[in-house]
Amino acid sequence: MFFPEYRPRRLRRNEQLRSLVRETEISVKHLIYPLFIVEGKGIKEEVPSMPGVYRFSCDQLKDEIKEVLDLGIPAVILFGIPAQKDEIGSQAYAKRGVVQQAIATIKKEAPELVVVTDVCLCEYTSHGHCGIIKNGEVDNDLTLEQLARTAVSHAKAGAEMVAPSDMMDGRVARIREALDEAGFSHIPIMSYAVKYCSSFYGPFRDAAESAPQFGDRRSYQMDPANVREALREASLDVEEGADILMVKPALPYLDVISRLRAEFNHPIAAYQVSGEYAMIKAAGRLGWLDEERAMLESLLSIRRAGADIIITYFAKEVAKKLS
Ligand code: PBG
Repeated sequence: MFFPEYRPRRLRRNEQLRSLVRETEISVKHLIYPLFIVEGKGIKEEVPSMPGVYRFSCDQLKDEIKEVLDLGIPAVILFGIPAQKDEIGSQAYAKRGVVQQAIATIKKEAPELVVVTDVCLCEYTSHGHCGIIKNGEVDNDLTLEQLARTAVSHAKAGAEMVAPSDMMDGRVARIREALDEAGFSHIPIMSYAVKYCSSFYGPFRDAAESAPQFGDRRSYQMDPANVREALREASLDVEEGADILMVKPALPYLDVISRLRAEFNHPIAAYQVSGEYAMIKAAGRLGWLDEERAMLESLLSIRRAGADIIITYFAKEVAKKLS
Protein backbone atom coordinates (compact mmCIF):
# COMPACT_ATOMS: atom_id res chain seq x y z
CA MET A 1 0.00 0.00 0.00
CA PHE A 2 1.91 2.97 -1.27
CA PHE A 3 1.06 6.60 -1.53
CA PRO A 4 -1.39 7.78 -2.78
CA GLU A 5 -3.49 4.62 -2.06
CA TYR A 6 -3.36 5.16 1.66
CA ARG A 7 -3.88 8.74 2.76
CA PRO A 8 -4.09 8.99 6.58
CA ARG A 9 -5.54 12.48 6.31
CA ARG A 10 -8.82 11.03 4.94
CA LEU A 11 -9.87 10.12 8.45
CA ARG A 12 -8.91 13.49 9.90
CA ARG A 13 -11.14 15.63 7.69
CA ASN A 14 -13.74 16.55 10.27
CA GLU A 15 -14.52 16.05 13.94
CA GLN A 16 -17.10 13.31 13.28
CA LEU A 17 -14.54 11.20 11.44
CA ARG A 18 -11.82 11.91 13.97
CA SER A 19 -14.14 10.98 16.78
CA LEU A 20 -15.13 7.75 15.01
CA VAL A 21 -11.53 6.50 14.94
CA ARG A 22 -10.36 7.94 18.26
CA GLU A 23 -8.55 5.28 20.27
CA THR A 24 -8.38 6.76 23.75
CA GLU A 25 -10.68 8.78 25.96
CA ILE A 26 -10.58 10.58 29.26
CA SER A 27 -13.65 10.16 31.35
CA VAL A 28 -14.42 11.54 34.76
CA LYS A 29 -15.13 8.01 35.93
CA HIS A 30 -11.40 7.20 35.85
CA LEU A 31 -10.33 10.08 38.07
CA ILE A 32 -9.38 10.33 41.72
CA TYR A 33 -9.16 13.78 43.32
CA PRO A 34 -6.55 14.40 46.07
CA LEU A 35 -7.58 16.35 49.18
CA PHE A 36 -5.32 17.87 51.83
CA ILE A 37 -6.83 17.99 55.31
CA VAL A 38 -5.38 20.11 58.12
CA GLU A 39 -6.21 20.06 61.78
CA GLY A 40 -8.08 23.05 63.17
CA LYS A 41 -11.25 24.99 62.37
CA GLY A 42 -12.29 27.44 59.69
CA ILE A 43 -9.29 26.76 57.46
CA LYS A 44 -9.42 26.89 53.67
CA GLU A 45 -6.07 28.05 52.34
CA GLU A 46 -4.72 27.84 48.83
CA VAL A 47 -1.41 26.04 48.33
CA PRO A 48 0.83 28.77 46.83
CA SER A 49 2.56 26.51 44.31
CA MET A 50 -0.70 24.75 43.38
CA PRO A 51 -3.25 27.36 42.29
CA GLY A 52 -6.80 26.06 42.73
CA VAL A 53 -5.77 23.45 45.32
CA TYR A 54 -6.63 24.10 48.96
CA ARG A 55 -5.93 22.74 52.40
CA PHE A 56 -9.15 22.27 54.32
CA SER A 57 -9.99 21.76 57.94
CA CYS A 58 -12.74 19.14 58.38
CA ASP A 59 -15.47 21.71 59.04
CA GLN A 60 -14.75 23.36 55.65
CA LEU A 61 -14.98 20.17 53.60
CA LYS A 62 -18.71 20.18 53.00
CA ASP A 63 -18.85 22.41 49.89
CA GLU A 64 -15.80 20.79 48.34
CA ILE A 65 -17.29 17.32 48.76
CA LYS A 66 -20.58 18.43 47.31
CA GLU A 67 -18.80 19.87 44.28
CA VAL A 68 -16.76 16.71 43.74
CA LEU A 69 -19.91 14.63 43.95
CA ASP A 70 -21.94 16.89 41.65
CA LEU A 71 -19.16 16.73 39.07
CA GLY A 72 -19.40 12.94 39.06
CA ILE A 73 -15.87 12.32 40.35
CA PRO A 74 -16.08 8.84 41.86
CA ALA A 75 -13.24 8.94 44.40
CA VAL A 76 -10.97 11.11 46.54
CA ILE A 77 -7.60 10.32 48.12
CA LEU A 78 -6.88 11.91 51.48
CA PHE A 79 -3.64 13.36 52.85
CA GLY A 80 -3.56 14.51 56.46
CA ILE A 81 -1.48 17.28 57.99
CA PRO A 82 -1.53 16.80 61.76
CA ALA A 83 -1.05 19.55 64.36
CA GLN A 84 1.51 17.45 66.24
CA LYS A 85 4.35 15.47 64.74
CA ASP A 86 6.67 13.09 66.56
CA GLU A 87 9.55 10.70 65.88
CA ILE A 88 7.31 7.73 65.16
CA GLY A 89 4.41 9.44 63.40
CA SER A 90 1.86 8.34 65.98
CA GLN A 91 -0.82 10.77 64.77
CA ALA A 92 -1.03 8.69 61.59
CA TYR A 93 -3.04 6.05 63.47
CA ALA A 94 -4.65 8.20 66.18
CA LYS A 95 -8.31 7.37 66.63
CA ARG A 96 -9.26 11.05 66.35
CA GLY A 97 -6.48 11.82 63.88
CA VAL A 98 -6.98 14.32 61.10
CA VAL A 99 -7.57 11.76 58.35
CA GLN A 100 -9.75 9.57 60.56
CA GLN A 101 -12.00 12.57 61.25
CA ALA A 102 -12.07 13.61 57.61
CA ILE A 103 -13.18 10.14 56.54
CA ALA A 104 -16.11 10.32 58.97
CA THR A 105 -17.08 13.77 57.70
CA ILE A 106 -16.94 12.75 54.05
CA LYS A 107 -18.83 9.51 54.58
CA LYS A 108 -21.57 11.47 56.32
CA GLU A 109 -21.82 14.04 53.51
CA ALA A 110 -21.39 11.65 50.62
CA PRO A 111 -21.71 7.95 51.44
CA GLU A 112 -21.36 7.04 47.76
CA LEU A 113 -17.98 8.77 47.29
CA VAL A 114 -15.10 6.27 47.38
CA VAL A 115 -12.64 7.36 50.06
CA VAL A 116 -9.07 6.25 49.51
CA THR A 117 -6.37 7.10 52.04
CA ASP A 118 -2.68 7.65 51.49
CA VAL A 119 -0.84 5.48 54.00
CA CYS A 120 2.55 6.97 54.84
CA LEU A 121 4.35 8.47 57.81
CA CYS A 122 6.16 11.45 56.27
CA GLU A 123 3.40 13.96 57.06
CA TYR A 124 3.36 12.72 60.67
CA THR A 125 7.04 12.40 61.57
CA SER A 126 9.05 15.31 62.99
CA HIS A 127 11.97 14.39 60.70
CA GLY A 128 9.75 14.12 57.59
CA HIS A 129 10.91 10.66 56.53
CA CYS A 130 8.43 7.97 55.52
CA GLY A 131 9.48 5.62 58.31
CA ILE A 132 11.04 5.15 61.72
CA ILE A 133 14.63 6.29 62.04
CA LYS A 134 17.13 3.98 63.70
CA ASN A 135 20.86 4.70 63.71
CA GLY A 136 20.33 7.48 61.19
CA GLU A 137 18.50 5.26 58.70
CA VAL A 138 14.89 4.50 57.90
CA ASP A 139 14.27 1.09 59.49
CA ASN A 140 12.17 -0.99 57.14
CA ASP A 141 10.63 -3.58 59.42
CA LEU A 142 9.86 -1.26 62.34
CA THR A 143 8.10 1.01 59.86
CA LEU A 144 5.93 -1.85 58.57
CA GLU A 145 4.22 -2.12 61.96
CA GLN A 146 3.35 1.60 61.95
CA LEU A 147 2.01 1.39 58.41
CA ALA A 148 -0.13 -1.61 59.27
CA ARG A 149 -1.60 0.20 62.29
CA THR A 150 -2.28 3.25 60.13
CA ALA A 151 -4.03 1.27 57.39
CA VAL A 152 -6.23 -0.52 59.93
CA SER A 153 -7.14 2.75 61.66
CA HIS A 154 -8.18 4.23 58.30
CA ALA A 155 -10.33 1.19 57.55
CA LYS A 156 -11.91 1.41 61.00
CA ALA A 157 -12.73 5.06 60.34
CA GLY A 158 -14.52 4.02 57.14
CA ALA A 159 -11.94 4.28 54.33
CA GLU A 160 -12.81 2.09 51.35
CA MET A 161 -9.32 1.65 50.00
CA VAL A 162 -5.81 2.21 51.33
CA ALA A 163 -2.84 3.36 49.29
CA PRO A 164 0.60 2.84 50.85
CA SER A 165 3.11 5.36 49.44
CA ASP A 166 6.13 4.80 51.70
CA MET A 167 8.11 2.35 49.49
CA MET A 168 9.18 0.09 52.37
CA ASP A 169 9.84 -3.52 51.34
CA GLY A 170 7.08 -5.95 52.24
CA ARG A 171 4.51 -3.36 53.23
CA VAL A 172 1.72 -4.64 51.02
CA ALA A 173 1.93 -8.10 52.60
CA ARG A 174 2.08 -6.68 56.13
CA ILE A 175 -0.84 -4.31 55.54
CA ARG A 176 -2.88 -7.09 53.88
CA GLU A 177 -2.29 -9.34 56.87
CA ALA A 178 -3.22 -6.61 59.36
CA LEU A 179 -6.38 -5.63 57.47
CA ASP A 180 -7.49 -9.26 57.19
CA GLU A 181 -6.89 -9.90 60.90
CA ALA A 182 -8.93 -6.82 61.80
CA GLY A 183 -11.89 -7.97 59.69
CA PHE A 184 -11.14 -5.84 56.62
CA SER A 185 -10.43 -8.52 54.04
CA HIS A 186 -12.80 -6.67 51.68
CA ILE A 187 -10.71 -3.46 51.67
CA PRO A 188 -8.49 -3.22 48.56
CA ILE A 189 -4.88 -2.01 48.54
CA MET A 190 -3.85 0.39 45.79
CA SER A 191 -0.10 0.13 46.06
CA TYR A 192 2.23 2.93 45.03
CA ALA A 193 4.15 0.00 43.56
CA VAL A 194 6.49 2.09 41.45
CA LYS A 195 7.22 5.38 43.13
CA TYR A 196 10.25 7.25 41.93
CA CYS A 197 12.45 9.57 43.95
CA SER A 198 11.26 12.58 41.98
CA SER A 199 11.78 16.33 41.94
CA PHE A 200 8.17 16.65 40.86
CA TYR A 201 6.88 16.22 44.44
CA GLY A 202 8.11 19.71 45.39
CA PRO A 203 4.76 21.51 45.66
CA PHE A 204 3.21 18.56 47.53
CA ARG A 205 5.85 18.77 50.24
CA ASP A 206 4.90 22.41 50.80
CA ALA A 207 1.22 21.49 50.90
CA ALA A 208 1.74 18.58 53.29
CA GLU A 209 4.70 20.00 55.21
CA SER A 210 6.45 16.71 54.63
CA ALA A 211 9.90 17.59 53.27
CA PRO A 212 12.62 15.43 54.89
CA GLN A 213 14.52 17.43 57.52
CA PHE A 214 17.78 15.66 56.70
CA GLY A 215 18.97 13.67 53.71
CA ASP A 216 16.57 12.59 50.99
CA ARG A 217 14.37 9.65 50.06
CA ARG A 218 16.79 7.89 47.73
CA SER A 219 17.27 4.93 50.07
CA TYR A 220 13.63 3.95 49.70
CA GLN A 221 12.08 5.58 46.63
CA MET A 222 13.12 4.35 43.19
CA ASP A 223 15.97 5.60 41.03
CA PRO A 224 14.48 7.51 38.04
CA ALA A 225 16.91 5.69 35.76
CA ASN A 226 15.34 2.27 36.27
CA VAL A 227 12.53 0.48 34.49
CA ARG A 228 13.39 -3.23 34.95
CA GLU A 229 13.41 -2.55 38.69
CA ALA A 230 9.89 -1.15 38.30
CA LEU A 231 8.75 -4.53 37.02
CA ARG A 232 10.38 -6.27 40.00
CA GLU A 233 8.66 -3.88 42.40
CA ALA A 234 5.31 -4.47 40.71
CA SER A 235 5.76 -8.28 40.76
CA LEU A 236 6.47 -8.21 44.47
CA ASP A 237 3.37 -6.16 45.15
CA VAL A 238 1.24 -8.52 43.09
CA GLU A 239 2.61 -11.49 45.04
CA GLU A 240 1.94 -9.66 48.29
CA GLY A 241 -1.70 -9.07 47.37
CA ALA A 242 -1.94 -5.59 45.85
CA ASP A 243 -5.24 -4.98 44.06
CA ILE A 244 -4.20 -1.96 41.99
CA LEU A 245 -0.65 -1.03 40.90
CA MET A 246 0.29 2.62 40.77
CA VAL A 247 3.06 4.41 38.92
CA LYS A 248 4.14 7.82 40.17
CA PRO A 249 4.84 10.43 38.79
CA ALA A 250 2.99 9.98 35.48
CA LEU A 251 4.16 12.14 32.60
CA PRO A 252 7.94 11.62 32.97
CA TYR A 253 7.30 7.85 33.34
CA LEU A 254 4.86 7.02 30.54
CA ASP A 255 7.19 4.23 29.42
CA VAL A 256 6.89 2.67 32.87
CA ILE A 257 3.09 2.82 32.76
CA SER A 258 3.18 1.22 29.35
CA ARG A 259 5.52 -1.58 30.47
CA LEU A 260 3.38 -2.35 33.50
CA ARG A 261 0.28 -2.39 31.30
CA ALA A 262 1.93 -4.94 29.02
CA GLU A 263 3.21 -7.19 31.81
CA PHE A 264 0.35 -7.20 34.34
CA ASN A 265 -3.38 -7.71 34.23
CA HIS A 266 -4.09 -5.75 37.40
CA PRO A 267 -5.69 -2.33 37.13
CA ILE A 268 -3.00 0.31 36.69
CA ALA A 269 -3.22 3.74 38.29
CA ALA A 270 -1.01 6.72 37.52
CA TYR A 271 -0.46 9.71 39.78
CA GLN A 272 -0.12 13.01 37.95
CA VAL A 273 1.77 14.64 40.81
CA SER A 274 1.93 18.15 42.23
CA GLY A 275 4.90 19.24 40.10
CA GLU A 276 3.22 18.11 36.89
CA TYR A 277 0.18 20.16 37.86
CA ALA A 278 2.25 23.19 38.89
CA MET A 279 4.20 23.14 35.65
CA ILE A 280 1.11 23.33 33.47
CA LYS A 281 -0.52 25.94 35.73
CA ALA A 282 2.59 28.12 35.77
CA ALA A 283 3.12 28.03 32.01
CA GLY A 284 -0.59 28.70 31.53
CA ARG A 285 -0.45 31.75 33.79
CA LEU A 286 2.51 33.12 31.91
CA GLY A 287 0.63 32.67 28.67
CA TRP A 288 3.30 30.27 27.42
CA LEU A 289 0.93 27.31 27.05
CA ASP A 290 -2.78 26.87 26.51
CA GLU A 291 -3.46 25.52 29.99
CA GLU A 292 -6.67 23.69 29.21
CA ARG A 293 -5.32 21.94 26.14
CA ALA A 294 -2.11 20.99 27.94
CA MET A 295 -4.16 19.58 30.82
CA LEU A 296 -6.29 17.42 28.53
CA GLU A 297 -3.35 16.31 26.41
CA SER A 298 -1.30 15.27 29.43
CA LEU A 299 -4.19 13.22 30.81
CA LEU A 300 -4.89 11.64 27.45
CA SER A 301 -1.26 10.60 27.14
CA ILE A 302 -1.40 8.93 30.55
CA ARG A 303 -4.47 6.98 29.45
CA ARG A 304 -2.87 6.13 26.10
CA ALA A 305 0.19 4.76 27.93
CA GLY A 306 -2.18 2.33 29.63
CA ALA A 307 -3.40 3.77 32.91
CA ASP A 308 -6.93 2.80 33.92
CA ILE A 309 -7.11 5.26 36.79
CA ILE A 310 -5.58 8.73 37.08
CA ILE A 311 -5.05 10.57 40.33
CA THR A 312 -4.95 14.25 39.41
CA TYR A 313 -5.32 17.72 40.91
CA PHE A 314 -7.04 18.63 37.63
CA ALA A 315 -9.95 16.27 38.34
CA LYS A 316 -12.50 19.01 39.02
CA GLU A 317 -11.41 21.11 36.04
CA VAL A 318 -11.50 18.12 33.69
CA ALA A 319 -14.93 17.13 34.95
CA LYS A 320 -16.21 20.66 34.30
CA LYS A 321 -14.68 20.62 30.84
CA LEU A 322 -16.13 17.23 29.92
CA SER A 323 -19.64 17.93 31.19
C1 PBG B 1 3.82 10.65 50.74
C2 PBG B 1 3.43 11.11 49.39
C3 PBG B 1 4.07 12.04 48.55
C4 PBG B 1 3.23 12.21 47.45
C5 PBG B 1 2.15 11.34 47.62
N1 PBG B 1 2.30 10.66 48.82
C6 PBG B 1 5.29 12.85 48.74
C7 PBG B 1 6.63 12.26 48.78
O1 PBG B 1 6.85 11.06 48.61
O2 PBG B 1 7.54 13.04 49.06
C8 PBG B 1 3.46 13.15 46.31
C9 PBG B 1 2.26 13.62 45.60
C10 PBG B 1 2.45 14.81 44.74
O3 PBG B 1 3.56 15.33 44.54
O4 PBG B 1 1.42 15.27 44.23
N2 PBG B 1 4.90 9.84 50.82
